[in-house]
Amino acid sequence: MSVLSAMRAANASGVRVLGIESSCDETGAAVVTGDGVVLSDVVESQIARHAEHGGVVPELASRDHARNIGPVVRAALDRAGVGLDAIDAVAVTHRPGLVGALLVGVQAAKGIAWGAGKPLVGVDHLVGHLLAVFLRRGGEGASADAEPPRFPFVALLASGGHTAIYRVDAPHAGACTELGATRDDAAGEAFDKVGKLLGLGYPGGPAIDRLAATGDASRFPLVAPMAHARSFEFSFSGLKTRIARQVAEHGAPSDPAELASVCAAFQKAVTDVLAKKLVLAAEAHGVSDVVIGGGVAANRELRQKVREAAAARGLRAAIPPLASCTDNAAMIAYAGAVRLARGEADAWDLVATSQTSLPRVTRKGRGAR
Ligand code: KG4
Ligand code: ZN
Repeated sequence: MSVLSAMRAANASGVRVLGIESSCDETGAAVVTGDGVVLSDVVESQIARHAEHGGVVPELASRDHARNIGPVVRAALDRAGVGLDAIDAVAVTHRPGLVGALLVGVQAAKGIAWGAGKPLVGVDHLVGHLLAVFLRRGGEGASADAEPPRFPFVALLASGGHTAIYRVDAPHAGACTELGATRDDAAGEAFDKVGKLLGLGYPGGPAIDRLAATGDASRFPLVAPMAHARSFEFSFSGLKTRIARQVAEHGAPSDPAELASVCAAFQKAVTDVLAKKLVLAAEAHGVSDVVIGGGVAANRELRQKVREAAAARGLRAAIPPLASCTDNAAMIAYAGAVRLARGEADAWDLVATSQTSLPRVTRKGRGAR
């Protein structure tokens, strides 16, 4: 299909895009309309599979994606009640992520799109996360404060692989500007490493979130490095090192109340700095809407702090439902529909690559900025 006819299709009401996601340890497929209505969203998680290794094993992830992708795509079409003939384009995550894992989704998407005679649209996973707030889910997945934000907005993207603040002027990659990112570990990576140190298994985020609710953060005062710096950059590896040192000296806390308090202190330190810098960035840019996304945006303390910090400064906070925060293919389908509506599609030589297309301002490592 030519780009022009793809554009016409996207402008027509009721455009439907099949999205495919395989960048890390979730195999996903979804059908979403051009205005963000989620007709189906199937996520096959490999978390249990990787838990026994304490983290994602890339080769195992690729093999599981290859096994799962066919059934997951079929389930997404079935649940949406459509065949491929009723799909207007196939969108796929082609960056950033584990290249072997991405390749499975990209090859599947190429095969399906070519066979069905539909346009192929590559999507940057991070753009998917940044636009996930526009997904319209029915029923239990919906959330009261997921009122869509107005452009421009400032978004915190915090996941297992990335943590950064973006200014988003319009719904496409070229209009997403990084304002600052982590200099070392991603926030989710810090949750996972601390979870492992405390013997909570993989992934650490949800387990720490649960335990922190009953802990007393004031028993172990922790502050994230760079929390008071004026930049929108973060650093989380020092927090992990502090907890690693404690564990090396005294062992992981065996008393449940103490364990909960260490979780509460760590979570407080991470969420304090994330919420604070998000609202400061919005103020610095004169932007009235803030958004969160990525797996760490599922964290209850972070969600609450962002709501409160935004309200205290007269900003609007758009907090997507949990299913839109963690990895899913619906956000990829939607970001693909937006590209299609702009007249953009990709050729059959679309490549999988580990790096994001979004320009970066933060370098990893120490040094003056
Ligand atoms: O966005 P995501 O599903 O995958 C990536 O693109 O990385 O994020 C996964 C990350 C993991 O590090 C996981 O521990 C973290 O999100 N996570 C959480 C919570 N749920 C998932 N972190 C803190 N609190 C949670 N409730
Ligand atoms: Zn992600």
